[in-house]
Amino acid sequence: MNKKAIIEKTKNYVKRSMRNEEPGHDWWHTYRVLKMAKRIAREEKADMFIVELVALLHDIADWKFHGISAGPKKIREWLGSLGVDKENIDHVIEIVQESYFKGSGVPDKMRTIEGKVVQDADRLDAVGAIGIARVFTYAGYKKNLIFIPEIKPRKNMKFSEYKKGDVTAINHFYEKLLLLKDRMNTKTGKKLAERRHRFMERYLKQFFKEWNGKE
Ligand code: ADP
Ligand code: NI
Repeated sequence: MNKKAIIEKTKNYVKRSMRNEEPGHDWWHTYRVLKMAKRIAREEKADMFIVELVALLHDIADWKFHGISAGPKKIREWLGSLGVDKENIDHVIEIVQESYFKGSGVPDKMRTIEGKVVQDADRLDAVGAIGIARVFTYAGYKKNLIFIPEIKPRKNMKFSEYKKGDVTAINHFYEKLLLLKDRMNTKTGKKLAERRHRFMERYLKQFFKEWNGKE
């Protein structure tokens, strides 16, 4: 099967299997990551086939809901069934496993440019206007509150702490979103992240003015 057909088939497969995902991590997240990853990949001269596969498959069987080995297993089965060679399958899986955000205190170590590209695209979707929308959707889904002034954001979280504890939507900005611009891998990613970062800062400024009845 040629690469174009593999990508097309994978796109349909991902669309089908993400139909019941929770809001904010649905097919449209994957769609946006794919668009952005392709844009960055062109500028970074990364292998487009690997980048597209990773972007499409990176959130399949989300590790937070299905455990960390469910995604890789599904990916191996799927790409194997399309006849993708083992070397490429291993590469895709390596990147997907590394892409799971493990908390602000845990360093990243993407080995290849393809991994760096998709990680940047995924992170860009967590910041800016879309990022803000996703935070509040996620918080509502988890029945978390918008903000509780007594609860301070946590710093340098370990992986075990990242998904636990009392979190509010606003604290998530300080625990993750505002940290992402300094963790971008590529020049293009950094530039876009900085723009989206400034937009979030403006948003938070306005939020606290309104919170305190000042505006
Ligand atoms: P990723 O797609 O990078 O793996 P996650 O699965 O951790 O990100 O989160 C999906 C979306 O939900 C992201 O936009 C993220 O910022 C947001 N999110 C994750 N955890 C929280 C939280 N505790 N409160 C609010 N939003 C969250
Ligand atoms: Ni993602």
